[in-house]
Amino acid sequence: MKEITIAVVPVAGMGTRLLPATKSQPKEMLPVGRKPVVQYVVEEMARVGIRRLLFITGAGKTSIENYFDLNPELIQTLRESGKEELLAEFEFERAPIQYFYTRQRQLLGLGHAVLCAAPFVGNQPFVVALGDSIIGLNAQSDIVKQMIECFWDTGAQAVVAFEEVPRAEVVHYGIAKPKTNSHVFQVVDVIEKPSVEEAPSTLAIAARYVFAPTIFDALRRTSPGKGGEIQLTDAIRLLLQEGGVVYGVTLQGERRYDIGNFDSYFRAFVEFALADEKYGAGLREYVEKLIYDHHS
Ligand code: UTP
Repeated sequence: MKEITIAVVPVAGMGTRLLPATKSQPKEMLPVGRKPVVQYVVEEMARVGIRRLLFITGAGKTSIENYFDLNPELIQTLRESGKEELLAEFEFERAPIQYFYTRQRQLLGLGHAVLCAAPFVGNQPFVVALGDSIIGLNAQSDIVKQMIECFWDTGAQAVVAFEEVPRAEVVHYGIAKPKTNSHVFQVVDVIEKPSVEEAPSTLAIAARYVFAPTIFDALRRTSPGKGGEIQLTDAIRLLLQEGGVVYGVTLQGERRYDIGNFDSYFRAFVEFALADEKYGAGLREYVEKLIYDHHS
């Protein structure tokens, strides 16, 4: 059995960096191109064989629950009004996934959010996918599949996705100290948001993880770190310090789209919209004209 069928998707964060857009709606529901961020995440999970998906939600996140409900009235209305071509947009509702929701009652950090999944996950390996990050254009990436393979092949306690970032940006991410310079590598250490000087590499954690259930024990023993939050990176570090084996897999060509700040959100939206089958070409012309007019 070389599969993993449980995923935990934390979506409880406040999204303060995207205010006012996130004042009364979750950042995970912001559209990137045609779909909300979280739909890309769920479609990615369905493709790698996830069958039970637990959202770690919080205050103001009920629209995420509503989004994954079946909506027979809407489908009926589309049928009756001859808009059947739009029914294809609801394909994701038929993904063979069961959704579960629990609330992180206090925002004590990503590590704490993952710990909220412990009673649900029990003694099984699981995937963690951050609900505010898309991997690959239109979520076309098989990184999690590779990570699950690595998990079973190596017997690691954790496998983490990494992306190369410019050195100046290491201060925003968990950064790896890799054992080897290869696509799949053993992780020697991870440091949450290091300074440029102390960063051991430019490999940044990229929003996807595979864990053995031993991570819960490590999380319970992890004290608040940067920002006073219980950091998932610190729990992974604890695993390493206690002799645990952790592997990294780097993104190959595909990018991580972080919908956590306006800079990367705008870039993601533009890139996805330009790639849209129907509207991309027209948008490209429009944007090129805007830029041309601006410079002439
Ligand atoms: P971020 O670090 O982007 O934090 O979380 P945030 O609170 O959402 O955003 P800002 O900093 O206020 O703008 C990364 C991921 O961890 C989840 C978020 O929902 C996001 O998917 N998270 C973070 C939680 O679920 N709970 C937390 O306490 C913190």
